[in-house]
Amino acid sequence: VKKAVLLATLLASASTCAFAQPAAPWMDRSKSADARAAAAVAAMTEDEKLTLVLGFTDPQELPKLPAGIIDPAILRDVEAHQVPGSAGYVPGVPRLGIPAQSQTDASIGVRVEGLPRTALPSSLATAASFDPKVTEAGGVMIAHEARLSGFNVFLAGGGNLAREPRNGRNFEYTGEDPLLTGVMTGGLINGIQSQHMVSTMKHYAVNDQETLRTSVDSKISNQGMRQSDLLAFEMILDRSSPGSAMCSYNLVNGFWACENDYLLNKVLKQDWGFKGYVMSDWGAVHSTIQAANSGLDQMTGYSCCDQTPFFGRLLKEAIATGQVSQKRLDDMATRILWPLFAKGVIDDPQKVGPIDFKADADVSQAAAEQSLVLLKNQGGLLPLKNVRSIAVIGGHADRGVMAGAGSSNVTPVGGNALENPPQYMTYIPSSPLKALKAVEPKAQVGFADGKDVAAAARLAAQSEVAVVFVTQWNGEGFDGKLELTDNQDALVAAVAKANPRTIVVVESGGAVLMPWLDQVTAVLEAFYPGARGGEAVADILTGKVNPSGHLPITFPASDAQLAHPIVGLGERDGTHAQIVYDEGAAIGYKWYDLKGYKPLFAFGHGLSYTDFALSGLRPAVENGTLTVSVTVKNTGKRAGAAVPQIYVAADRAAGWEAPKRLGGFEKVLLQPGESRTVHVTVDPRLLATWREAGDQWVIAPGTYHVLAGQASDALPLSADVALPGRVFSAVHPRRPD
Ligand code: BGC
Repeated sequence: VKKAVLLATLLASASTCAFAQPAAPWMDRSKSADARAAAAVAAMTEDEKLTLVLGFTDPQELPKLPAGIIDPAILRDVEAHQVPGSAGYVPGVPRLGIPAQSQTDASIGVRVEGLPRTALPSSLATAASFDPKVTEAGGVMIAHEARLSGFNVFLAGGGNLAREPRNGRNFEYTGEDPLLTGVMTGGLINGIQSQHMVSTMKHYAVNDQETLRTSVDSKISNQGMRQSDLLAFEMILDRSSPGSAMCSYNLVNGFWACENDYLLNKVLKQDWGFKGYVMSDWGAVHSTIQAANSGLDQMTGYSCCDQTPFFGRLLKEAIATGQVSQKRLDDMATRILWPLFAKGVIDDPQKVGPIDFKADADVSQAAAEQSLVLLKNQGGLLPLKNVRSIAVIGGHADRGVMAGAGSSNVTPVGGNALENPPQYMTYIPSSPLKALKAVEPKAQVGFADGKDVAAAARLAAQSEVAVVFVTQWNGEGFDGKLELTDNQDALVAAVAKANPRTIVVVESGGAVLMPWLDQVTAVLEAFYPGARGGEAVADILTGKVNPSGHLPITFPASDAQLAHPIVGLGERDGTHAQIVYDEGAAIGYKWYDLKGYKPLFAFGHGLSYTDFALSGLRPAVENGTLTVSVTVKNTGKRAGAAVPQIYVAADRAAGWEAPKRLGGFEKVLLQPGESRTVHVTVDPRLLATWREAGDQWVIAPGTYHVLAGQASDALPLSADVALPGRVFSAVHPRRPD
């Protein structure tokens, strides 16, 4: 033992000696990240800078690349460090102590095929918590797992708005409202980056459908974008300073998103003062000179997804001919290094180690418990109390809970719960059936898989209550449908006919239609509820947990209500198919308000097992800033969390895209009888319209209406407030680290 201690001491002092040499200026922690990045770039050769701007897929693939693409020294570095494979890899500069960037997906957890990791509920689910502490805690957990898995860059932070309710990736995003997205995705990124990782925000921008995602041109006015999709990203940036922004596959107004001067140079870097780097989505680069000069800093995904390494050697040639400036290459390298210093990636490198899956699953379950949304609860059927028999039906509830497909898919701890799953379909082994049996040990709990509708109805008829699980499978690369598939609507109708005490649990990527809604007693929206989704569902159904989620998206009553009744195929114009978003910023509840449509369930809706009352709505204007306070009281008999929501409404003269906008919200946990006053400061951009001339936000003078309630269609309190006119620049001052 003594010998071992001695050896360890010697090794420790040897390594101390190695670091005791005068440190390179970029390793001096007392200096700012800007200064350190600038010093490192100044010490680099051109080839070293070029190394930073070209990303590859799985590092294990690197030796197979054609000769000349990658420096043999880098290959040796990859071997020496045994860099794990996941989404991507960008070699470092070992000579200068700059580590390789090992990139993994995504917002829900670490994706390494075949390597189990903990899945959070889908991002849309955690957005329903309306509490950024929930997404932040989730971010901490998944980033911790990522570091222990050997990664230092997280391809997380989905921030596209649910403009198209059938978008296959809505489950990776945080809803239809720019403020909610800013707060919730911002929380996630804060959590991730607190663990000394770089996070992206993605997919920038207007990548709002999966149909033709790599070739469609999203057409939208600059004003429409600034007040919706771009505002969401701007609000994420305000709150969380992600080190990277991932540009998307599609075109926006005629230019590929990854070579879009307006989006990258003008809006992101100039107006918003973004200091990090723009990385491409995998296979989203189409040029060298145009992309580099339009603001792309790092090309990723060579060779899985891009056939040409547009950066690297080709960029070197463009620099030699002066078509891309040396200064621009320095800027690219500085932007890539800045977050590696600012977020602590270099000072506190990742280290592979064991993961505490139990503790991490606890985090995921806590998130689900805050997020599931009770949509309907007629006559207070839920929570289930002393029931003697329960029929559990459908949705593979005997096995687990559904997960979304694509690059965000996490290999579940315990493996796929389905023995022969359809390709790309994952069920997480957290069985609601087993969980219900565990929380209701005295109840007789039967199961029918739902394939035989008559058998399911028979089981329901013999039971005191029936719980039907329905699923909607969504994923990357395809858009879904609002209708449930596989005869599930008929199953619910038959079960509800056999037993009026029917509860439906929906596991879905987004909104679904519910033709049977009037026939069932209760509906719980579970989204994709994550690693312990089954337990979370059972705890809510039985009242161990009081539901407190609210919808981050509108549930339409029919396809006919949508801005694009047929999912975005668009018109072909010249070379590219176009999707024309002429609804502009009128997304989600704003669209429904504008058109006077009554949705199935409104944005912000969510029930509790207790009751809350709002009172004392008080808007105030100080120095032109609108603040609002409102008091919320728990008037029921059990503790619960309320989400008072403040909306601002304007008369037509204000020129808004829709009658009202979400201005603020807060989640508050209240004991029975307890009340709390919440204070909200309304972001002035939410009272303004963006004006191209002068690149400004403009608040029209006049009377505005402040509304408060617990859902966008249930706002019992209102008060008027006069706002002076105000014009302010859309250009931010430089952002801090
Ligand atoms: C997805 C990105 C993902 C990347 C790397 C792409 O197909 O659109 O969200 O980060 O793959 O896996």
